[in-house]
Amino acid sequence: YFDPSFSAELIAWQKQHGRHSLPWQQTGDAYKVWLSEIMLQQTQVTAVIPYYQRFLEKFPTVEDLAAAPVEEVMASWAGLGYYTRARNLHQCAKQVVERYQGRFPSDPKLLQELPGIGRSTAAAVAAFSYGTVAAILDGNVKRVFARVFGIAACPGTKSVEDDLWLRAEALLPASDITAYTQGLMDLGATLCSRGKPDCQRCPFQARCIAFAQGRTAELPIRKPK
Ligand code: ADE
Repeated sequence: YFDPSFSAELIAWQKQHGRHSLPWQQTGDAYKVWLSEIMLQQTQVTAVIPYYQRFLEKFPTVEDLAAAPVEEVMASWAGLGYYTRARNLHQCAKQVVERYQGRFPSDPKLLQELPGIGRSTAAAVAAFSYGTVAAILDGNVKRVFARVFGIAACPGTKSVEDDLWLRAEALLPASDITAYTQGLMDLGATLCSRGKPDCQRCPFQARCIAFAQGRTAELPIRKPK
């Protein structure tokens, strides 16, 4: 699956056409990056922005968050939904303070041991905070891969998930991991949307199997109930 032209094309696209002024970008602060990634797990960017800003005013550092009563954390989360995220967020802050003196680790394997941080979120936090080269694979990225590589196998099965992770690892760039990771997210969230993908503007049009076969509406196939 190794193909350095994939990351080169995506990085060039991200630099020209991707999003560069989201409030959590270019902070280099792992606490802010982590907070944004947890909020963005199940909530759209536009809904997250005001919550992110208010949350940081109330809890400016991971120490402030760890020391707060859980009720205050829940109150600041109210309206964002998926409240397990808020409980895990609070627990995670406590562990980062206790185990790592308030500094988030740069190793995705260590990040993944913390509450609420899965494999993809760990990679995103490590990449955006520290430039660690690690693979993300969220719902948007899976859709991009399913279309570009023409993956019509059953989503969610172990063999398909394993295959997607292998591809995600093999396609990683040697440098510019921040632009690459943001590019994958931005492409999936904008041009390569579920509903009506904008293939005319897509940097991967020439290599996209779904586009070539006129199957962007079919891929990725829906998970059976
Ligand atoms: N979705 C998840 N993480 C994101 C990020 N860093 N920027 C934009 N959308 C995202």
